[in-house]
Amino acid sequence: MTPIKRIGILTGGGDAPGLNAVIRAVVKSAWNSGIGCVGLEDSYDGLLEFDRSRILAPRDVTGILRLGGTILGTINRGNPFESMIATSDGQKVYAERVIDMFNKMGLDALVAIGGDGTLAIGHEFWLRGIPLVGVPKTIDNDIVGTTNCFGFDTAVAFATDAIDRLHTTAEAHHRIMVVEVMGRNAGWIALYAGVAGGADAILIPEIPFDIEIVAERLRARDKWGAKFSIVVVAEGAFPKDGKTTLLEAAGIGRVERLGGIGAQTCEALATLTGKETRSVVLGHLQRGGAPTSFDRALATRFGGKAVELIRQGQFGTMVAFAPPDIIARPLADVVGKTKTVPMDSDLLLTARALGVTFGD
Ligand code: F6P
Repeated sequence: MTPIKRIGILTGGGDAPGLNAVIRAVVKSAWNSGIGCVGLEDSYDGLLEFDRSRILAPRDVTGILRLGGTILGTINRGNPFESMIATSDGQKVYAERVIDMFNKMGLDALVAIGGDGTLAIGHEFWLRGIPLVGVPKTIDNDIVGTTNCFGFDTAVAFATDAIDRLHTTAEAHHRIMVVEVMGRNAGWIALYAGVAGGADAILIPEIPFDIEIVAERLRARDKWGAKFSIVVVAEGAFPKDGKTTLLEAAGIGRVERLGGIGAQTCEALATLTGKETRSVVLGHLQRGGAPTSFDRALATRFGGKAVELIRQGQFGTMVAFAPPDIIARPLADVVGKTKTVPMDSDLLLTARALGVTFGD
């Protein structure tokens, strides 16, 4: 095996709290093993031109552990493989340019930190000869093969805090408050924040809901004296006879933008219960701010493990959390799949046992 002297590191897809913690861990542990790091700007775009990257030494990552966002920048776009790109050397096929520049920059390996899209692209590059290790990131927690992605715990903590705040105003005004949370086509954030925040109804994409069942549950609360209710709705949730609500349809190189189900649910519940209802969309607030201590520790462990895998030559893999361990999984087993909430999830069943309705 050729000794690893210099590695590239990039962050892709939507940001998530903990990205900087991974970068810091990779740079510091690589440095301490005699490996240099090059930070690539804006995901794989950092491999298009020489001036889209910079050397990262420990002093460049000092103090970033607790910062949200990513010091490298990120982009959220579809698979670039077949697309053409304008470069300083003329029009090129994106993937060919990236591979060419990877070699010209004297990189020996790549750490790609990202969600399903970034990891799928990384897997393609690995198949085309780039020694690559992936690090799973997403607040949605929907990547298969890892119990947790960093960012998820922070998003849940934020959403829980928001639900706590909504509880007091809901109770004061005897209202129904509907909270729309992120998660794309997985209900993890809604389920965890809903249970942690004591929601009365949790609507997730895995369980198409009947709004009449939800309304009946809230009317029952009114009857026994709880004059307010909290409903948590995942952005990807949809009614039994309906479909996912979109803010924007998918376009070329762009995924669809989900949203709007919170407002719809709010309106329907107002009609069906006759109560005052209000809705709140937590949106990108869930992706901002400092990572929780859990996410900082997980991100740091992921970064350290990524460097270990590179030193061992275990490429085409993704670091993963299999409690209590951090392990390696083949990217081939992970990409193109979505980890959704299983119907026998302990948390789901516990919530049901407590009387939380999922609208089914
Ligand atoms: O995947 C993370 C996520 O925050 C989803 O929960 C959400 O649907 C999406 O990204 C929003 O993407 P954008 O930042 O492009 O609006």
